[in-house]
Order: sequence, then C-alpha cells, then structure tokens
Amino acid sequence: MATYIVLLGPPGAGKGTQAEILAGKINLAHISSGDLFRENIQNQTELGRLAKSYMDKGELVPDGVTIAMIRERISLQDCEGGAILDGFPRTPAQADALEKMLAEFGGQVNAVPYVTAEESILIERTGGRCSCRAHGHIYHKKFNPPKQPGVCDIDGSALYERDDDTVETVTKRIRVYFEQTMPLVAYYRQLGKLIEINGVQSVEQVTNDLLAALKK
Ligand code: AP5
Repeated sequence: MATYIVLLGPPGAGKGTQAEILAGKINLAHISSGDLFRENIQNQTELGRLAKSYMDKGELVPDGVTIAMIRERISLQDCEGGAILDGFPRTPAQADALEKMLAEFGGQVNAVPYVTAEESILIERTGGRCSCRAHGHIYHKKFNPPKQPGVCDIDGSALYERDDDTVETVTKRIRVYFEQTMPLVAYYRQLGKLIEINGVQSVEQVTNDLLAALKK
C-alpha cells in the first residue's frame, strides 16, 4: 500500500524545507499545493488566476478546485509508492477527500508530522524567504542564504520573494491557519497519526527529529 505523509504546520514553520529534504531521503514524491498553485499562476492558467485572487489576500483557495488539482497530481506515476503532502489537506473537507482518493488509489496516510513554531518566528522566516523560479527550492536571506545572492544553488534559476510574504498577508495566513487548519491537528491526533515536531531548531535537527519519529 502506498505511503502518504501529511506535513502540517503554520506558514513559515518549515514544511516546504523539510518536505524537500525528506522526499530525497525516503524516496517519496513531494507534492506542495502552494507550489502547484504558483506554477499555475506563472503559466497564467485559469486555475492560477483564480488561486491568485485568494492567495494575495492570504485566504485559502476553495476546496473544490484544490481537491481536483491534488487528485490529478496524485494520479501521476511518480506517486505509485506514495508522497509527502506539503500544504494539503488544510480543511476537514480536504482531509475527507484525501481519505477517499487514497482508498481509491490504494494508499493511506501513515503519519502526520506537525511542525510548530511561534508567530514571531513565522514572521521572521517568511520575511526573509526567497524561492527559486524553476523548482521552488527554498532559501532564507539570514538563516539559509544562497551561495550567490539571487541565484539558486541547485539549478541556477533566479530567486524571488513571494507576493504573499508581506507581514500583513502572513499575519492573515496565520489567522486562517488557526481557524481552518487547526481542526486537522485534533483529527489526526485522534487517529493516532499526529507527531509533534519542534520547528524552532536548526534545519538539520528538525530533519533528524522527523526521521526518528517516522521510523517509529
Ligand atoms: P503554501 O505555499 O502552502 O504556504 P504555507 O502553508 O503558508 O507555508 P509556507 O510555504 O509559507 O511555509 P513553510 O512551512 O513551507 O516554510 P518554509 O519551509 O518555506 O500556501 C500558500 C497559499 O496557497 C495559501 O495561503 C493558500 O492561499 C494557498 N493554498 C495552498 N495550499 C492550499 C490548500 N490545501 N487549500 C487551500 N488553499 C491552499 O520555510 C520558511 C522560511 O524559513 C524559508 O526561508 C526557510 O529557508 C526558513 N527555514 C525553514 N526551516 C528553518 C529552520 N529550522 N530554521 C531557520 N530557518 C528556517
């Protein structure tokens, strides 16, 4: 049965950073709903235009289109063994839909690491973040700077700052997270799948904690 790991945590907790590292270490596909929306925005698709109107305000994109996008992504061949889901599900309706689609594709959610950090840290991290245009590799001006400013170490593409990383929008995203995504923490805890991970440590230490917890 295919293995799915759902990474939960507020904006800036380090989900994307850890998902990228874990995907390499445990050989699973990495699916980031935020990156899929940003790809659609860059490619000027209809979904991208719709998603941008919500993302710029720090709100969630409606469940229907988000679920359809993830379903299409999960149906691709590289997810046969499973995937690390970064940013999905984010509402109870999305969690329900995920369960149904995994039953259909022959997979299940095995573990739900919940990466935590307090609000001041989230604001500081998102404030200095830059990401690469080509593949979404993540850097931070202070905590994880690229070797050459403005250039991705891995693929050489240009780095950019996300439109939704202003203090105002991040504050709204954190509020939306507590209102709409926090119920999933209780839901997965009740299923015995939640693993709390302290996100306020070095990137390496967070990875070590995640790997140790996933082994269990
Ligand atoms: P999305 O792109 O998913 O953003 P998010 O969940 O708000 O999370 P972030 O990407 O901001 O943070 P992260 O936890 O991945 O942290 P990162 O590793 O980058 O979603 C964006 C928008 O898309 C949403 O607001 C919504 O509109 C829409 N959307 C997406 N999914 C949706 C869904 N399912 N339903 C509806 N709408 C959806 O790290 C942050 C920074 O900190 C980086 O600079 C990094 O280098 C640095 N850093 C990471 N770890 C550490 C560490 N341990 N120490 C120091 N610095 C660190």
